[in-house]
Amino acid sequence: MRFQKALLPAILAGGFAAEAAALNIPLHKKQSDVNRADAIKEAFTHSWEGYVKYAYGKDELRPVSNTGSNSRNGWGASVVDALTTAIMMGMDDVVLQQLEFIAVIDFTTTSSTVSLFETTIRYLGGLISGYDLLTGPYAGLLATNLYNAALVENLLTQAVTLADRMSFAFNTASGVPANNINFSTNSSTDTTNGIATIGTLVLEWTRLSDLTGDPKYAALAQKGESYLLNPKPASSEPFPGLIGSNVNITNGQFLDASGGWSGGTDSFYEYLIKMYVYDPTRFSTYKDRWILAAKSTMTYLQSHPTTRPDITFVAEYNGQSLSLNEGHLTCFIGGNFILGGQTLGVEDFTQFGLNLTSGCHDTYNATVTKIGPERFSWNPNNVPATQLLFFQQNGFYVTGSDYILRPEVIESYYHAYVNTKDEKYREWAWAAFQGINKYCRTDTGYSSITNVNAVGGGSKSDVQESFWFAEVLKYLYLIFDDSKEGGFVQGTQEWVFNTEAHPFKVAAK
Ligand SMILES: *[C@@H]1O[C@H](CO)[C@@H](O)[C@H](O)[C@H]1NC(C)=O
Ligand SMILES: *[C@@H]1O[C@H](CO)[C@@H](O)[C@H](O)[C@H]1NC(C)=O
Ligand SMILES: *[C@@H]1O[C@H](CO)[C@@H](O)[C@H](O)[C@H]1NC(C)=O
Ligand SMILES: *[C@@H]1O[C@H](CO)[C@@H](O)[C@H](O)[C@H]1NC(C)=O
Ligand SMILES: *[C@@H]1O[C@H](CO)[C@@H](O)[C@H](O)[C@H]1NC(C)=O
Repeated sequence: MRFQKALLPAILAGGFAAEAAALNIPLHKKQSDVNRADAIKEAFTHSWEGYVKYAYGKDELRPVSNTGSNSRNGWGASVVDALTTAIMMGMDDVVLQQLEFIAVIDFTTTSSTVSLFETTIRYLGGLISGYDLLTGPYAGLLATNLYNAALVENLLTQAVTLADRMSFAFNTASGVPANNINFSTNSSTDTTNGIATIGTLVLEWTRLSDLTGDPKYAALAQKGESYLLNPKPASSEPFPGLIGSNVNITNGQFLDASGGWSGGTDSFYEYLIKMYVYDPTRFSTYKDRWILAAKSTMTYLQSHPTTRPDITFVAEYNGQSLSLNEGHLTCFIGGNFILGGQTLGVEDFTQFGLNLTSGCHDTYNATVTKIGPERFSWNPNNVPATQLLFFQQNGFYVTGSDYILRPEVIESYYHAYVNTKDEKYREWAWAAFQGINKYCRTDTGYSSITNVNAVGGGSKSDVQESFWFAEVLKYLYLIFDDSKEGGFVQGTQEWVFNTEAHPFKVAAK
């Protein structure tokens, strides 16, 4: 079913009932949520059509100037990142277009530096997940013929080509990979790497080994990870399970003891429990490390603003001293604790995850746009005079005011909703989407904005990152769609999302 554009204004305004019949919605579904799922699909179609018209083949659309730009090596990041969302939305013609584009990407050359991490989570993740979905629950999406079968098989072929091409990154004295790699020289000038960029490869590279039967990809990623599971020196682990940020790629030793669940460290922790979901047999050590980190986070990093002790945030640290700051990126943490609690059957983790999700919701609910900021603080000693009243009322103040279409808060709403089925989380997700629609939408897509707490959202800064397609629209869609089409049953742990929201079939199932 294609979304009918003319109905969008009425749906966004909340007038659902009358449109249901026109949209041919099955009666057993709750009408408002079906309409909301269709509004998310319309946002996808709007963004996709703008991208195709003005930036096709570039990495992302600039949705204000209507031009394209290449921030991810010019291989068409938005095409590959949008694939799994288009599949799950059932958009067969878009999927076919994407598969034909992907078939001819040349992943072996680029004139710009390649990020091993970004390329793994967006491109490799998108290819592998697209393959898993189209050979699994969505095998019926495309007509059965040799041409389509070849296009699907090609996803795995391209994943292998790309991983083989990047493998030299692991060719260091320790086996800890370099992140910034040069395809002209097959080398890197990096001397250190961060724990998120080292520790957010293992799901993608392990899945590739399991799909191809060639263990070399898993071995490379797991070797790098081994230094993070057993950090040295001991001083780089200031709280049990919570470690430093930067690793010397020559000897695998940590260079610092600062960190948290923020950008640069975040998805290392995320993948510890996700690897256990992926395969509890092979990755039980990863689970043990996640439990240590999770318990330490609850004991040492949990923080409540002086002005709003009812709110739960998590602090960052340098050694054992805390810094009362959080970023939008950190807000995936609620969802990760909920996933951990569900997986391990530990209610405390789930409850803490719900508390953290609620804290991140508070940062959305408090602003003019109903979208949360990129960075915020609750350090009572540093409050800018202009935000004293805001801090008094809301328990935080804004230290980075932009919104670049990040998914993490909505990602936590997804896990909260799937786990509890509490409609409150759907309302929160809908409020976030309405804010994004109101302040970020342009004639051709959705734009980053400069100030979530200014009238009008400040100004539009003209970037539509590929993760808008991969993550924001997918999590929103899954929150409102409960059709379970294609057998993708949520919350059953037969699938695990990579950090870019590309679902992988778990090994154990
Ligand atoms: C790759 O290395 C070559 C040789 O040192 C250099 O000329 C080129 O600028 C590098 N490319 C990038 C993207 O850094
Ligand atoms: C880099 O590696 C690719 C294969 O992955 C190879 O074709 C190319 O010749 C290598 N370039 C250099 C400068 O070694
Ligand atoms: C990394 O370790 C090597 C070998 O011990 C040492 O020579 C180098 O200075 C270290 N690099 C950094 C950035 O600390
Ligand atoms: C979650 O928040 C509630 C209400 O503030 C509190 O009673 C509860 O102890 C918190 N749970 C955890 C696990 O932190
Ligand atoms: C959201 O903010 C409004 C005030 O704008 C407040 O009335 C409401 O209680 C807040 N919701 C939550 C869940 O805190």
